[in-house]
Parts: sequence; structure tokens; C-alpha cells
Amino acid sequence: MTPIYLDNAATTCVREDVANKMAEVLKSTYGNPSSTHSVGRYSKSILEQCRKRIASHFNVKSSEIVFTSGGTEADNLVLRSAVYDLDVKHIISSKIEHHAVGHTIEALQLSSQIKVSYVHLTEKGEVDLKHLEELLKNSSEKTLVSLMHINNEIGTILDLKFVAELCKTYDALFHSDTVQSVGHYHLDLQKIPIDFLAASAHKFHGPKGIGFAFVRSGLGLQPIITGGSQERGCRAGTESLHDIVGLDESLAIAYTHLETEKQFISTLKSYFINRLKSEVPGVKFNGYCDDFEKSTYTLVNVCLPVSSEKAPLFLFQLDLKGIACSKGSACQSGSDKGSHVLTEILSQDDLKKPSIRFSFSSYNTKEELDNVVDVLKNLVLETA
Ligand SMILES: Cc1ncc(COP(=O)(O)O)c(C=O)c1O
Repeated sequence: MTPIYLDNAATTCVREDVANKMAEVLKSTYGNPSSTHSVGRYSKSILEQCRKRIASHFNVKSSEIVFTSGGTEADNLVLRSAVYDLDVKHIISSKIEHHAVGHTIEALQLSSQIKVSYVHLTEKGEVDLKHLEELLKNSSEKTLVSLMHINNEIGTILDLKFVAELCKTYDALFHSDTVQSVGHYHLDLQKIPIDFLAASAHKFHGPKGIGFAFVRSGLGLQPIITGGSQERGCRAGTESLHDIVGLDESLAIAYTHLETEKQFISTLKSYFINRLKSEVPGVKFNGYCDDFEKSTYTLVNVCLPVSSEKAPLFLFQLDLKGIACSKGSACQSGSDKGSHVLTEILSQDDLKKPSIRFSFSSYNTKEELDNVVDVLKNLVLETA
């Protein structure tokens, strides 16, 4: 049975062209980019070409792109160095950030005794921008705001430009975890006055274990991984060239086809929502995920009308039917911990029911979604 893969917010398949290009580089371009001989210099030139092309998608300088092992490390780099090196004493964030941000802030609060404020959320999980402004207005310490662009569980979109401008007004630094939006949305960072962002290749059909941080020049960020002077002293360790090539190639393809793929995936999402609404009575859409203005086109998160005793097995039953999707975010799959995001926005009753995230890619088909709706319909009838 070929699985129906609807867990693209957890990770995506690697595009064939990307895998081929990576394999080519892995086989032929083995020089250490830090070596001064021609073999090393050749690797270095490829590395810098990748950095340049990646920077061009965001309208920033090459030197503002720092390669990391992925989104988690990019978030850690920014948050930790902001506290250790940039004298940040107050972090404003939300309770629905990815753990790469949330747990890092908690650790910093314990180790460095910084002040942490959590911005209020609206009923459906949007950041309360008025409260954010109040927090900024009343902050007398050096402040960093860390708010994600697109929530990985419920898909809610933050107005990045508005928040970046607000942070500028109040002289605060602004970091955004853009792991779910890079490669899916165009971000012109000349128009969005953001200081830092984090990205990860495996969310846009690139390889796992590679990503980058955008760090606006002149901010003085320091490495959290120390050693050699790679990445202009911002991140030590020999660069994984084939992964960086994979990151660059997957991002270039994602941005070339963005509009067509967005259109296609949006059509899938709206077809899925409409079928669920008409054929699974009692289904609820968590957050704003059925609103295309307020939520990303790449996912839906549904709360299903299933009794609480049957709920724990629901995801397992979908898996048995060959449907790969997720409860909460991927990092929690397989653990029993409930979603910290849904805990913030669902009623106690709805938290007892299974909430499932289906996330799409251009590799999905309408026929797959038809199958999934049919399976869901039957499972809900059997387990109601
Ligand atoms: C919003 C968000 N931030 C950070 C991460 C972590 O990225 P990575 O897997 O590259 O470490 C993820 C991955 O699930 C994510 O969805």
C-alpha cells in the first residue's frame, strides 16, 4: 500500500532534481571550503554561489545568510546570542511558538534570568497586536520580540511587516521563526524591517539537517557553536556542501513555481475542507485554518467528533489505513503530550477529541483527498 502522505508541515519529500544535484556534488566536490588550495577554493565558490542565490530571494546581502543545521539551530543561534551578546534582557513571545523557540526561551529564562512576557492570543490563536504594542511600550529593558510567521500546527499567519515596524517604533529587535513560510511565501526583507529569521530546507522539498538564519548586518550576533571561523565567525564547523546545494536548489525551485503550486495546493485544501464540511457532521476547524486570509494554504487542523475513549487510537487507525498525518506538530508525534498550541485555544471538551493536522504539497492529488475523506467518514461513524 503506497501511503497517502499528508504530513508536509512535518517534512517534505526531496525533489528528484534536488537529490540528483546533491548526489553530483557529494561525489565530485569534496574539498573543504576553508582550504586555500584550488580544490577547497572550488568548494568555497559553490558555497558562496548558493549563499548569493539564497540571499537574492529575500533581497538581502549574502553576508546576512548564516547556514545552520536547520530551523532549530537557527532559532537557538538568534535567541541565545541575543541574550548572551546583544544584551537583551526582555523577550516577548507567545505560548504557541514551536518548541525550538518556546523551550529555548524557557531555558534562557532559567539560566540568564531575563524577563519573558507572553503576548495575549485571540480566541482562535492570533497574536493580539494591541497587547503586543502595550508590552513594547512598557518595556524599559533591551527587548527582543520572537513571534513565528506561520504557526506549524494551526497555520495562523502573523502580519510580519506590521510587527517588524512596530518593533522598530519601540526600538526592539525582531526575530521570526519562518520555518513554515520560507519557500511557501515571498519575503522581501528590504520591505520588512525584521532583524532575524530562521528557515529549514526540509520544509520545502530540500534535505533534512540544513537551514539558515538571516541576521541583519551590523547586529553583532556571535556563534553558539564555537570552533573554526566558518560562516564569517557566526557558526563553526565545516560546511556540508551537498546539503547547502540541496537547500539552494530546493529553494530556487520552490520560488520559481510558488504561484502555480500555491494555486494547486489551495485548490486541494479548499476541496478537502468543503468535502469534510458537507460529509463529516460535527467536524471543526481549529484556529482559522479554514480561512484562506488568516491561515496558510498548506495545512488544515481538524477536530473530529469522536468519543474521548476512542480518540487516542484515531491517528493509529489512520496510519493503518495508509494515511500519514499528524497529531499536533511532528516533534510530538509518538509522544503522548498534548499539543501546547491546541491547549491554548480549544475548550476542555474539544481537547478530548482527536485533532489531526493534514498538511499538503504539490505531490498530493485530489484522489488522495477523496480517499482520506472516505476513511475519515467511516472512522468517525465507527467511533462516534
Ligand atoms: C515552525 C517550526 N520551527 C522550527 C522547526 C524546527 O526545524 P528543524 O526541523 O529544521 O530543526 C520546525 C519543524 O518542525 C517548525 O515547524
